[in-house]
Amino acid sequence: MALIDPVLLKPRLGALAGRFDVDALDECDSTNSELMRRADRGAPAGTVIVADRQRAGRGRRGRSWLSSPEASLTFSLLWRFPGSPTRLSGLSLAVGVGLARALGGLGAPGVRLKWPNDVLLATNGDFAKLAGILVELASDRRGTQAIIGIGLNLLPPTGDLPQPASGLSAAGVRVERHDILAAILAELAAALDTFAALGFAGLRDDWQALHAWQGESVRIQGEEADLAGRCLGADPDGALLLETGKGIERIFSGDVSLRRTAGGDGTSHA
Ligand code: ATP
Ligand code: BTN
Repeated sequence: MALIDPVLLKPRLGALAGRFDVDALDECDSTNSELMRRADRGAPAGTVIVADRQRAGRGRRGRSWLSSPEASLTFSLLWRFPGSPTRLSGLSLAVGVGLARALGGLGAPGVRLKWPNDVLLATNGDFAKLAGILVELASDRRGTQAIIGIGLNLLPPTGDLPQPASGLSAAGVRVERHDILAAILAELAAALDTFAALGFAGLRDDWQALHAWQGESVRIQGEEADLAGRCLGADPDGALLLETGKGIERIFSGDVSLRRTAGGDGTSHA
């Protein structure tokens, strides 16, 4: 029996229960891959796959996502939008706002967002990755389907990671996992409704307020040359704004890595 029981989740979703169709698995390759296969077979919007264990959990650019049943919550949500994928720039940022609102509501202080897809925890004077978001899009006659994958650390991950990582427990949150998943799904539904109506522009103020590195010196490691400047957050399309000696550059590509270059106490730009 999987750690999440959809029967126990339903009452926690209350009036929103009808918007989600949750399947809980002991194991799969990746909840994003499993949900994509089901979406191709016609699964409805609101389908959620949550798995205790992923054999091949993925991050961006084919990187691995580390998780273990007790220490993690790993799931994917299917959502559909009218129109082409180009209208969905900023979707992973919108999801970040929903996720951060939910974690804040569960009592986690210091949850911050890093462009484009990371949720960080301000901890021990620095930032550590608490959750990652992997949005994968596919379009057909009906519009665009988004597979929204979320990996959340309940406990700090054990394993060799190139960047600091943390878990909800480090933020003092010890909430039962059904309550965590229900809170996240409720905030995702709200954020996705706003996004469908207004695009990322409707969530931008909140994103900016949650932005970990607002006004700080950063460098962007691209496939070509690196760029350095002051990070001004995201524009209404979800592009990263970087103030450089040549003016303000807009970075659209997710195929870059953002790094802070100045030290900081991890809390002063909340
Ligand atoms: P970048 O700034 O290059 O985007 P990133 O750390 O945000 O760096 P992503 O591709 O967004 O990179 O996320 C995948 C990365 O997350 C992996 O390379 C790995 O270092 C890290 N990672 C994997 N599992 C976990 C986990 N459970 N918790 C925190 N970080 C993890
Ligand atoms: C990242 O930080 O690059 C994104 C990580 C996303 C991980 C989640 S875990 C659930 C879903 N299934 C996957 O294979 N990936 C996402």
